[in-house]
Amino acid sequence: MAQAQGKQTVIEWLNRGRARELTAILTYMAQHYELEDTDVGKLADAVKEVAIQEMKHAEDFAERILYLGGEPTSQPDAGIKKGMSIPEMLEADVALERQAVAMYNQAAQACEDAGDHTTAELFIRILAEEEGHVDLFGNIGDHLARHGEAYLATLIGGSADEGASAE
Ligand SMILES: [Fe+2]
Ligand SMILES: [Fe+2]
Repeated sequence: MAQAQGKQTVIEWLNRGRARELTAILTYMAQHYELEDTDVGKLADAVKEVAIQEMKHAEDFAERILYLGGEPTSQPDAGIKKGMSIPEMLEADVALERQAVAMYNQAAQACEDAGDHTTAELFIRILAEEEGHVDLFGNIGDHLARHGEAYLATLIGGSADEGASAE
């Protein structure tokens, strides 16, 4: 009985993580399109790369949920903000990633407490990648704050946007 309850708790944490990942995917996809639209192609590519990593996380959580007999959620846990300036965007992204780090730390501990070391390890592995995302977005934001337009100029172009030149 206690074991079944523990499994339910683990599935809930996995679905919380999955909902967080879905929010991140939608956020970064939206930012990717906005950045491409304003020709900040190199930053757009970096954001797209992170979106793809979040998709893998969402899938990893879903696979584990299915393995445990649960049902993976398809609902993101927050709305998507659009139309932000680049510094605002980066600040929001760092906040989103920090929330994921805090959540997955808690989740890893909860799964450990429930005796599910495999799920705890999954959260720890993904957690490390989210810390990488905090650094990535944080570093770009820092460079931008320090060097402004000069740094922004280095983020322009570089995107493989075939077929997008018909403006
Ligand atoms: Fe993620
Ligand atoms: Fe992330």
